[in-house]
Formats: sequence, C-alpha cells, structure tokens
Amino acid sequence: MTEPLKTDVLVVGTGPAGSAASLALATYGVDHMVITKYRWTANTPRAHITNQRTMEILRDLGVEEQVEALAVPQHLMGDTVFCTSLAGDELGRVRTWGTHPRRQADYTLASPSSICDIPQNYMEPILVRNAAERGAHVRFDTEYVAMEQDDDGVTVTVRDRLTGHEYPIRAQYVIGADGGRSQVVKDLGLAHEGQMDVAGSMNIVFKADLSRYVAERPSILYWVLQPGSDVGGIGLGLVRCVRPWDEWLIVWGYDISAEPPVVDEAFATKVVHDLVGDDTIDVQLQSTSLWGNNKWYATELRRGRVFAMGDAVHRHPPSNGLGSNTSIQDAYNLAWKLAHVLRGQAGTGLLDSYEPERAPVAEQIVLRANKSIEEFGPILEALGLTDTSDPAVMNARIADRADDTAEGRAKREALKKALELKDYEFNAHGVELGQRYASGAVVPDGTPEPEYERDPELYYHPTTWPGARLPHCWLGHREGSGYRKVSTHDVAGQGRFTLFTGIGGQAWADAADTLSRELGVEVRAVVVGPGQPYTDLYDDWARLREVDEDGCVLVRPDNHVAWRSLHPVDDARAVLGGVLRQVLDRP
Ligand code: FDA
Repeated sequence: MTEPLKTDVLVVGTGPAGSAASLALATYGVDHMVITKYRWTANTPRAHITNQRTMEILRDLGVEEQVEALAVPQHLMGDTVFCTSLAGDELGRVRTWGTHPRRQADYTLASPSSICDIPQNYMEPILVRNAAERGAHVRFDTEYVAMEQDDDGVTVTVRDRLTGHEYPIRAQYVIGADGGRSQVVKDLGLAHEGQMDVAGSMNIVFKADLSRYVAERPSILYWVLQPGSDVGGIGLGLVRCVRPWDEWLIVWGYDISAEPPVVDEAFATKVVHDLVGDDTIDVQLQSTSLWGNNKWYATELRRGRVFAMGDAVHRHPPSNGLGSNTSIQDAYNLAWKLAHVLRGQAGTGLLDSYEPERAPVAEQIVLRANKSIEEFGPILEALGLTDTSDPAVMNARIADRADDTAEGRAKREALKKALELKDYEFNAHGVELGQRYASGAVVPDGTPEPEYERDPELYYHPTTWPGARLPHCWLGHREGSGYRKVSTHDVAGQGRFTLFTGIGGQAWADAADTLSRELGVEVRAVVVGPGQPYTDLYDDWARLREVDEDGCVLVRPDNHVAWRSLHPVDDARAVLGGVLRQVLDRP
C-alpha cells in the first residue's frame, strides 16, 4: 500500500468554490492541497456577475484589484435590453445591477466594493495563482475517486488522469467543491430537496464585433424574444457579453426530454445570426456545450470531517448571477473556522456552524433563481404570446403594442409591470448582501431581529444585529497629520476577530487585548472616535452601529457580527470572554 500524502485539508475542485477555499486557507496559513480533474481551470466563461459581497471577500483576501483589472465595470453592465433581435425591435430596457441612479446610492452606500463582471475563466486563474503563491499545493489532472473517514481523518483515493495511477491522500478535513455533478456529495449521501435537469440550455461562445448593436446601450445581457425560432413557438435567448464588444456567449434553450441537439458549426452560426438579426456578421465559433437547469439544494452540507460547498450543494439556473458568488461565499464562511480549529484556537464545535449558516442560503438562492426564470412569463403574457405558436400572430401582437388603442395601452402598461418584476432578478441587492446567520457561532444579544423597512429581496438593510454582515461605512485611519479613508470591512476581516467600540468603551478594548492573550486568538480592538487611530469621518458609524458609543460590536473574521453589547457592562472581560468561548467552542 502506498504511504498516503498528508495534508490538513484536501479541497476537491478548483471552480469558484474550491479555488476560493484554497485562497482563503492559504491566506490563513493552513496547510492544504487542492485537486481538480482537468488540466487547468474553467475553459469557458460561465459565471460572470460578481456581486459586492464577493468583491468584499476578494478585497479581504487581497485580490480585489487583480479581479477589477480584468472585469467589466458596473457602468457598462446595466442597460439590459429586451428585443426581438439585436438588430430588431427593442421591447424594453431595464437598468440592472444597481445602475439605476436611484439604486446606485444603495449600492455605493452598502459596500466599499463595486459589483462587476468577470468571466469565470478569468476569475479562477486569479484565485488559483494567488492560492499557489501563498502556499497551496495544487494538483491538476487529479480526480477524486473515493473516500473513507474515521475519527482522526479522511483517506481519499485519487487518480492521476495522465498515468491512471491511483494513490491515497490523508487529510484531517475534506472540502467537496466538485460542482453540480458532485461525486463527493453522492458518496456522502447528503439530504437534499428539488430536482435536477428541469430544462435544457446550450452555450455558444463566439467572437464577433457587435459594437454597432450594443455600444450605445452597454450591457452584459441582451434578452431576445424571437417568434418562430423554437419548437414551442417563441424562443427566449440570451446574448451575453464576455468581452466588450467582440466576444459573446449565447444561451439558447432545448427540449431536455428529447434527444440532445447536435450543435454543429452550421447550427450554432444560425442561432447567432438569428439572435443578432444580421446574417452578414462574421462569427468565429469558440465552443459549444449543453447543460441542464436545476432546482436542487442540499439540506445537509456536511458529514463528519467532509464539508460540501458551491454547486455541489446548490444547483440552479444562472438567473440573478448567484452561483459562483454563493460558492465563493460558502468557502469564505468555512475557511476561517477550519483555520481556527486546525490551529487549536477553537473546538471542533465551531465547524458545526457551517451548515446552519449556509444551508438556508443554498435554499434561498436556488428558489430565487428559479423564480426569476418563471418571472419571464409575465413578459410573454403582456405581449400576448402565450396562447399561440403561430409566428405571424406573435409578430402582429408584438407590433400592436404600438397601437393607439385601449388594447395597445393595456399592453404597454402590462409590459412595463412585467419588466419591473425583473428587478427581483437584476437588482436583488437584499439577496446579494442581506444574509443573516443563526448558529452556535453567533451569540444573540437578546434584541429581536430588526424589521425590514423595505422589500428584503430588493434592498439590503444594514444592521449590527448578531449574525448580520458588518455594515460598511468609511472611517478615517490617522496617518501623519491626516486621515486615510478605510472601510469598516478593511478594519475588520483579515482572518481575525475585531471589536469595535467608541470613546468610553476602553474597558471593552482592554478586555479584547487581555482575552487575545489568554485565548491565543487575535481579537483586535478598535476604538472609533476623535483622537483615536480610527475616527468616524462622516458620523456614519454612529448612525449604523445601533449600540451606544460605549457599547461594542464583535465581528468575526468573515465580517459577520458575532455579538454586540448595546451598553457597557460591569465586567467586560467576563462577558466578552464568555461570548468568545461560546463562538469558538472553548471551555
Ligand atoms: P464548478 O463546477 O465551477 O467547479 C467544479 C470543480 O470540481 C472543477 O474544478 C472540476 O474540475 C472539479 N471536479 C469535478 N469533479 C471532480 C472530481 N471527481 N475530482 C476532482 N475534481 C473534480 N454564477 C454566478 O455567480 N454568476 C453568473 O453570472 C453565472 N452565470 C452562469 C452562466 C452560465 C451559462 C452557467 C452554466 C453558469 C453560470 N453561473 C453563474 C453558475 C456558476 O458557473 C457555478 O455556480 C459555479 O461554477 C459553481 O462553482 P463550483 O466551484 O461550485 O463548481
């Protein structure tokens, strides 16, 4: 028997989940290995919308600027067009991804980071490269085959796909980030809900200069409703920008209950010409692939020492752009916990918080993404396209929305409402940022959960209620005779706990220092106020913190609030110590 390779954590997969897990573990100095079945990272663009929460995580992990350098910025993302072809009739436009001037303020206020668009095949190499530079052992062409776990660890059998040689890797913990067909999840037999392959889609990646159709209405997404172009009568296709404005990906549906279509060059080129509405454009086909739309989420994310994340546990259509975002966020949630347990700074009970924190998010995003698909229905209904499959009738009904008649007016009104509903897909800021955790790694402060003042899916509600994401605002860090602007997220994070307090809260700061030494866990105390190293430049922290100036907010390494105290207490060290012990599962 070959002596197993040994590592603390084995990560299976270098998709967004696995590569982010590896980057976070490497950043925290955790010995680990990451394997992937293929010779390199993603070979097609796939995921692209990268929301503010993900960008904050990448900022904390020190790669935000590298991602921004290759990303399409927010201002080029948002004139989302609905049309009969790029060259054809424009049915409507929706300002998406926070680009409506009214929504822009919500996005700018909520985060130090900007939403952007970076194709997955650009993102993954950044994550993997930085992970490797920080110490990750990355093995390509290496396939997970099987595993066995015992009380002390997990022995995973992997296959070198170049030689066929199989060998064991022994790890203390394993992360299954092996995507929507996860073998790890199958082997664990994790409980789940929903269904796979509810609809079929094909991707057609191609190069073509489409500037003349899009540069005046820049967007990442162009939705094409095309009568007569599909078996069901209406084809609903997506022309998605990969690189402005000469590299594209078309998503086109197919009937998953029938034989899979043969997507050869002639077929793919015809789909491109039809959706663009111009058969004179030169199309250089890059790749084609078929994939299934799923409505499936695991309700268990862990078995013993093996954790699963990413598409392995939440599988859904690309609507709302939540897939790779949630995958990266899963990884960030687990990595600091593993780091603390492996360093002996926390008991293994800390790991129990992963599932209750992330399983509700898995369910939420799978249902949200699927609902967004259903919400295309009202657009078709508004145009009168659901009770006929005759292209001539459909075209006439699309055209008569311009009539000066009662029907024309009603149709225009219905279409306006139907497009407004798409806000829940394209401007769902609350879904993107609003996650509030409840688990053993969050200590309630006895206050009730704050009410949502606006729609919780569309709007993010900042709060320091334990479990919520730390609200962002700009503080000033004293440097020389002035202040440099830093986000609350920059002050916290970095793999350590942070305790925010204000003038009058020195007892909290002293307690944090003492407990850092006693527990061997870094708890950085930050007193915010005039004369302190950090000051509340615009008084925004005072407006957001929801605790008295001499209360405190304890933030976990993943920038979620662990606990807060509204007021000072008699024995700060005892109270804070009790909280930290509870979060860290320490005696
Ligand atoms: P992913 O599938 O990316 O990676 C799995 C990894 O595991 C790969 O490295 C693979 O090699 C490896 N692997 C698999 N089996 C293995 C084995 N047995 N042994 C070793 N390695 C193995 N999401 C989003 O957030 N925003 C968006 O805009 C979009 N848009 C989008 C468009 C289209 C057309 C698609 C198809 C998908 C999206 N998505 C998206 C979804 C997104 O692509 C998806 O959610 C993420 O890739 C999931 O990341 P994971 O890391 O979980 O799996």
